[in-house]
Amino acid sequence: MIQIRVPEVRMDVAPLLPMTTPRLSLRLFTPGDADDLYAYQSLPSVARYLYRPAHTRERSEQVAAERAAQSVWRVDGDKLALAVCRRDAPGVLGEVTLTLAHARAAQAEIGWTLDPRHQGQGYASEAALALARFAFDTLGVHRLYARLDVENTGSVRVCERLGMRREAHLVENDLDGDRWGSEYIYAALAADMVAPSGS
Ligand SMILES: CC(C)(COP(=O)(O)OP(=O)(O)OC[C@H]1O[C@@H](n2cnc3c(N)ncnc32)[C@H](O)[C@@H]1OP(=O)(O)O)[C@@H](O)C(=O)NCCC(=O)NCCS
Repeated sequence: MIQIRVPEVRMDVAPLLPMTTPRLSLRLFTPGDADDLYAYQSLPSVARYLYRPAHTRERSEQVAAERAAQSVWRVDGDKLALAVCRRDAPGVLGEVTLTLAHARAAQAEIGWTLDPRHQGQGYASEAALALARFAFDTLGVHRLYARLDVENTGSVRVCERLGMRREAHLVENDLDGDRWGSEYIYAALAADMVAPSGS
């Protein structure tokens, strides 16, 4: 009989942060990040593939405060959101998120968003790869997946750069305003991920 070792995924992540990569620092949000969050969460171009309206200033303040207080992974649905910052400059470039989708089976969903002013420089892939490695190596995640609109080509490229494989194409499975939205599901086990640069 095959023995399955189900990892323990419950943990307070705060003492392990910030996480660093060659160019970036990933840390918990603080209430003082509301301005930087609003700068991109308020943009229709950013909200477009997130299946939600652009955020108001008040909503971004609320999000910053909620995220600052959420560092524990305990139950299904707990979400860790990390601010993506440059190591050598102030300000928030965007975010990477990790949601505990199914604790018993060690399944987690990863996500990423960058302020358009900081796109096209590899920051999302660099931050997502660090968070993915952290999820597998430290948090005990067994399988990591991402759900994305099929038209979100920038996000598709992030998945493929990380080594995730396309596992599903869900056809018209959601309503995005006045159009049917279709989604891809990309996923990876630990061995599928590309190695971090420099290793
Ligand atoms: C999805 C999203 C994060 C992708 O952002 P991105 O900037 O294209 O992705 P990266 O930061 O990884 O940058 C990769 C690009 O930088 C380029 N690049 C430039 N300099 C680089 C460097 N020094 N190192 C690595 N890549 C570099 C790469 O060639 C690549 O370009 P390409 O995609 O045209 O081939 C961004 O489009 C976004 O925030 N969208 C809105 C929110 C959203 O849809 N989130 C996902 C929901 S599922």
